[in-house]
Amino acid sequence: MNTTFRKHRDWPILFLAVFFSVGQITAVYSQTNVLNPNLKISSTLPPAASLLFSKDFIVSRDLNAVSQAANGKVSSKGNAKRGLDLILNKRYLPPDFDQETFDSIWMVWPDKLRRLALSASDQKRLQMAFDRYGFTPRENDPLKPLQYVVDNEGKWSMNCFACHGGRLYDNRQSFPGLPNNRIALETLYEDIRAIKRKLKKPFSGMDIGSAIIPMGTTAGTSNAVIFGVSLMAFRDSNLDLKSVVIPPYVIHHDMDAPPWWHYKRKKMIYIDGFTEKHHRGLMPFIMVKQNHGERFRGFEDDFVHIQEFILNVETPKFRGSINRSLAAKGKKIFQSNCQNCHGSYGSPSTFPEKTIELDEIETDPVRLKALSKNYRQRYGKSWLADFGKSKTVIDPVGYVAPPLDGIWASAPYFHNGSVPTLRGVIQPSQRPTVWTWEEGTMDLKRMGLKVIELPEDSPHLHPSEAAKKRLIFDTRRYGKSNQGHEFGSLLSDTQSLQLLEYLKTL
Ligand code: HEC
Ligand code: HEC
Repeated sequence: MNTTFRKHRDWPILFLAVFFSVGQITAVYSQTNVLNPNLKISSTLPPAASLLFSKDFIVSRDLNAVSQAANGKVSSKGNAKRGLDLILNKRYLPPDFDQETFDSIWMVWPDKLRRLALSASDQKRLQMAFDRYGFTPRENDPLKPLQYVVDNEGKWSMNCFACHGGRLYDNRQSFPGLPNNRIALETLYEDIRAIKRKLKKPFSGMDIGSAIIPMGTTAGTSNAVIFGVSLMAFRDSNLDLKSVVIPPYVIHHDMDAPPWWHYKRKKMIYIDGFTEKHHRGLMPFIMVKQNHGERFRGFEDDFVHIQEFILNVETPKFRGSINRSLAAKGKKIFQSNCQNCHGSYGSPSTFPEKTIELDEIETDPVRLKALSKNYRQRYGKSWLADFGKSKTVIDPVGYVAPPLDGIWASAPYFHNGSVPTLRGVIQPSQRPTVWTWEEGTMDLKRMGLKVIELPEDSPHLHPSEAAKKRLIFDTRRYGKSNQGHEFGSLLSDTQSLQLLEYLKTL
């Protein structure tokens, strides 16, 4: 059912079903070490993958950066290490499924994959499952994914890293704060529902919710914003549950999460810059029914630490070769064509945080329109925005030009993830209409995902298996346009390559 998005008013009954079916929450806090940068994950990989990993250190990064960021940095406001630990190990949402369910999930895979899984070792099977859903192993505990809290009883709950933690091209290690460009939530919950039916286990709130509200129709993107909007409809300004709920008008659409290392640069957050940076603004993700009123507000201190972690995520540096003389020429092109909106890098470093009107930027309009004035007003008057003390823009006119630090690492590009390479961002003629990509490799020429372009009438567009279809990005679909941002379209090929070289240095 969730293959196309359209505008609709959800039936109140369905909507209430999502909300009230969410299971019991158990607040379990288990202590584990933060990332261990010395762990050699490559040794646990099958030969092909370790080859990939060892062959090419171009995009490998120093994981110390993450642990340094997390290492006991305490500001007056919070402690980054504690923030990371909370995301990884504290359960804010009810469990979605248990270990037995996840271990059995391969049994509902399509025939060919299931046969492979059947004859695979446990470790290989786990890796197949991680690959299918876009999970990456934790550094010090590779049987658990970064993207889920797994408690001592083997109960799994989604955490922030489902969308905000992934891996960098050929580097097998997990990178908390990097947008997860492989997360496949729709596929995961589809499979979870199927295996639970087989095992006769009850559905969780997320199982039911995700059958009603699509979680994301293309892997690597999610409908997270609309989940937030939907949950907000049940709250009064204090975030207590309301007795009368009017179902909101929702416009489902997929978004590519932004990298967390940009957060420190911003005063206003989200692509339309609609709300001021504030730790409470990070909490909508946990606004399920069980977390209401006092209990919800009681998590505030945790989010001070979580925000501190986010503020300390370091920008990954490109380690591959950079042609300095090309880059120097590219810098000049950047200064005259891009800097006005995106700011300057190195010293001085500036970030103008400019909103560009939709008429000028012309990228996909759906996200801007999906948040109604009414929703923004309610948000601005609520506890989340400190009852108006924290600024909210009720009527944003376009999208904010984001910072470009570490931009080489966060493909695909634009807020909907529609453009797979930086070359394509610069030169609109280089943007594929229908594409899929080879995981674990980087296109160093175009800087971004290694794309396989599909013909527009390709039979691959209608693969029988839904999970496969979600790996295909079709920019002709609703909310997925790759148009607009034509600011580099007049540059020659030579100039584009110079600019591309400069972007590697940011
Ligand atoms: C299901 C996917 C998903 C999950 C889970 C999720 N987010 Fe996000 N997050 C997004 C998307 C999509 C955006 C972009 C929204 C926008 O710009 O409108 C975003 C944006 C953000 C931003 C960036 C704001 C900016 O402008 O730079 C921060 C910070 C953030 N989320 C924090 C969190 C935290 C903390 C959690 C966990 C408590 C979390 N998110 C859970 C999808 C998710
Ligand atoms: C008039 C303002 C403006 C100019 C000039 C401009 N940009 Fe942008 N740029 C934006 C906005 C706004 C976005 C966000 C668009 C979206 O996500 O829908 C963006 C997005 C991007 C992105 C994607 C960021 C991401 O995280 O997905 C890159 C890369 C980028 N611009 C590079 C450039 C380069 C290189 C130039 C110069 C050729 C340039 N831009 C010129 C406003 C501008």
